[in-house]
Amino acid sequence: MTSIYIGVMTGTSMDGIDFVAASFEPLKLHATLSIAFEPDLKDELMALTRPDDNEIDRMGKADVALAKKIAHGINQLIADNGLDRQQIRAIGCHGQTIRHRPEDGFTLQLGDPNIITEITQIAVVSDFRRRDMAAGGQGAPLVPAFHQAIFQHPQIDRVILNLGGIANVSLLPANKKHKILGFDTGPANILMDGWCRRYTGQPFDENGDWAAHGTAIRPLLDRLYAHDFFAKEPPKSTGREDFNLDWLDDQLIDWRNDPEYEVLDDTAENIQATLAKLTVRAIQKAVYRSGMKDGEMYVCGGGAYNSYILEQLRWRLRKHEWSVQTTDVLGLSPTWVEGTAFAWLAMQFVEQRSGNIPAVTGAVGTRILGCITAV
Ligand SMILES: Nc1ncnc2c1ncn2[C@@H]1O[C@H](COP(=O)(O)OP(=O)(O)O)[C@@H](O)[C@H]1O
Ligand SMILES: [Mg+2]
Repeated sequence: MTSIYIGVMTGTSMDGIDFVAASFEPLKLHATLSIAFEPDLKDELMALTRPDDNEIDRMGKADVALAKKIAHGINQLIADNGLDRQQIRAIGCHGQTIRHRPEDGFTLQLGDPNIITEITQIAVVSDFRRRDMAAGGQGAPLVPAFHQAIFQHPQIDRVILNLGGIANVSLLPANKKHKILGFDTGPANILMDGWCRRYTGQPFDENGDWAAHGTAIRPLLDRLYAHDFFAKEPPKSTGREDFNLDWLDDQLIDWRNDPEYEVLDDTAENIQATLAKLTVRAIQKAVYRSGMKDGEMYVCGGGAYNSYILEQLRWRLRKHEWSVQTTDVLGLSPTWVEGTAFAWLAMQFVEQRSGNIPAVTGAVGTRILGCITAV
């Protein structure tokens, strides 16, 4: 009987929870489900990403509430799709990151695995990041090992670009002697979603249409791009602690006091276009600095549905003849790549195989990632 693993991903966008039931070798998706957060839970998880009052009690409550929601989602996934519970070897649950501080060797994800195992009666592998950090790594990104296993091509250089709340790339050279690189390039949807919600009331910029109506503001773009994170050499990872609307508001104040400031530029859609270009500029730089001259880029994550960003990427990467498509072309929907990666990481744990790539995270060696909560 083929083993099925369930991957559960709740990324920095906080748009909801993704569930994927998958088996590997060959990759097959048996079932998928996405559920949105209730606004209260979303607001609390979002608030917990920043220092505030009474964090420990609030964190404890959110940990339990999220775990229950995840567990019921898993039971729904199993029931709706008639999955055989006996066939499911383990759940790989990433949890919601509320703090990620690699410089302090610390990262924290919520969603108590004990509750998830208790409700689903399935073993849960969780806490994927901290072993890598204990070994000196950033604990992120963890998806490149999965991208390598599934998407590396023997003749063609490939880049897998995940546009979640944060953008991260996996650089997969065709020549296996060359090192795989992977790192966060900077913000993707976190800033664009926040800005869009503030000005249009919509949770995100559907298709990137709103940004496409604007024109990026060069001096503002340069100012945003001056954030220390962009100049750092990989390995590097980031999150809401570094990029959030308060940071953006501070930058806007500085820009408005700048001699280059033009009041006519200062429209909400121009700022949205600037945020989109900030994402694109950082990705372009990552690809050009990789030394890979041409190849194929495949985009996943919800941002793969942002046509404006994809167009901008095609334009920016044209000189080096990179093709830019979504992972759909490779047979895996952009929506389910991350969830599938955590199903795969659960399998790696169960099979006692490593899940990190030291050149990517900066850890001193490969490590088996995660802890198990047994049935
Ligand atoms: N149709 C769409 N058009 C533009 N952006 C989209 C679309 N669908 C999803 N997104 C973006 O993708 C985000 C969710 O992406 P996801 O990969 O789930 O990120 P995360 O891993 O951070 O949860 C949404 O917040 C939104 O910004
Ligand atoms: Mg998501």
